[in-house]
Amino acid sequence: MYSHKFLVEGGQKLSGTVRVGGSKNAALPIIAASLLTDQPITLTNVPDIADIYTIQHILHFLGVETEFTDNTLKINARAVANVEIPHELVSKMRASILFLAPLLARNGAARLSFPGGCVLGKRPVDVHLTALEALNAEVLEDSEILHLHTKGFVGAKFTMSEASVTGTENAIMASVLAKGKTTIRLAASEPHVQDLCEFLNKMGAKITGIGTHTLRIDGVKKLKGCEHRITSDYLEAGTLVLAAAITQGEVDILDIIPEHLDIFWQKLREVGVVFELGKDMVRVLPSKHLRAIRLQTAIFPSFPTDLQAPFTTLLTQAKGTSFIFETLFDGRLQYLYELERMKLKPKILNPYQAEITGPVKLKGAFVNSCDIRAGAAMLLAALAAEGQTEISNIYYIDRGYERLDEKLNSLGAKIERVK
Ligand code: EPU
Repeated sequence: MYSHKFLVEGGQKLSGTVRVGGSKNAALPIIAASLLTDQPITLTNVPDIADIYTIQHILHFLGVETEFTDNTLKINARAVANVEIPHELVSKMRASILFLAPLLARNGAARLSFPGGCVLGKRPVDVHLTALEALNAEVLEDSEILHLHTKGFVGAKFTMSEASVTGTENAIMASVLAKGKTTIRLAASEPHVQDLCEFLNKMGAKITGIGTHTLRIDGVKKLKGCEHRITSDYLEAGTLVLAAAITQGEVDILDIIPEHLDIFWQKLREVGVVFELGKDMVRVLPSKHLRAIRLQTAIFPSFPTDLQAPFTTLLTQAKGTSFIFETLFDGRLQYLYELERMKLKPKILNPYQAEITGPVKLKGAFVNSCDIRAGAAMLLAALAAEGQTEISNIYYIDRGYERLDEKLNSLGAKIERVK
């Protein structure tokens, strides 16, 4: 991990136009799914972020050739030379678990240590293992290391033990080449899960029910190469909207898919943020009176957990007491302790619930970015604060957002990247 920091001079109103890039959480499973064919894959609109370099290292370790230039990633998995991914790579990114199904499908076995990534409370892997077992994989070891093998996936009808995003993605990747038909109930339906399904169908898979919580998959014998544009990142879009709103700016955000953010728009209206939605853009306008609300996260299409910290940061500027209820992760209110250094006085009721009373005159301070989305929240708070904020551990921000500092600076922010 490197030791870059952001120095942010707060109080600048953002203005201008900015484009949203491709989705990290769509790119990662799609790249893993590229192992399901021995033919070339071309992906465009791939975000240039740290997690994409990590997943490329994993591909190289597996003997798979890649070429990444100008947001285009070419992958050729002619042969997959290994069934094991070393701990140094797995520990950098929890999404490494997405290689379980492709390695099993391709080579009949998969071995990796428990995945790392952001520190976000207890995130069990059982949901992945249970789904893969339903499809005829056998778990040989699940203590120090995950070790699975299969004599070939076989279609089945099963219900996910919870609507886990990457768990569903593993189940889908296992089913597309399985013998026979599969029905997955309580499937996650986030836009990135949908994009994985669209990609697999282009490769020749037969998946129906995309966007719903029940997926039906007819197994096929072989998948072919294809070209695919990674869907726009609704989490980056939401973060940029919040950056405009928290600075009372006037910003056009382009290349968005508004229907990925239905509840987010509803919540913004409730708060009193003024914006105009177009077909694939949003214009955020200055809004004077922000009101406190109740914000509760849940699985798609509800309010995304990945926008909870950035949205709560906007709520520090709203009049009254907002109630935050994070229903997915038990470690996702940690950033409130960092905001405390900036003069917010949050009332943290338990690991899932907090109250925020505003508006608060945020003051620049030394803060730490404790996960990708908490990092984005720190940046938003720093934009709204009086004086200078120093954000450390920005590796996390770089993991998930493509040059967020440069994008915000192009809108008039004053963010300096220092070593
Ligand atoms: N959970 C529930 N109920 C559910 C589904 C999940 O309580 O119905 C809980 C789980 O127990 C777990 C947490 O919610 O504690 C997240 O579960 P999930 O398995 O869905 O998370 P994931 O697949 O490991 C993906 C994203 C995360 C995002 C979550 C939730 C990728 C590569 N990662 O993780 O992204 O927060 O889904 O939407 O897609 C990020 O981008 O910053 C990030 C952490």
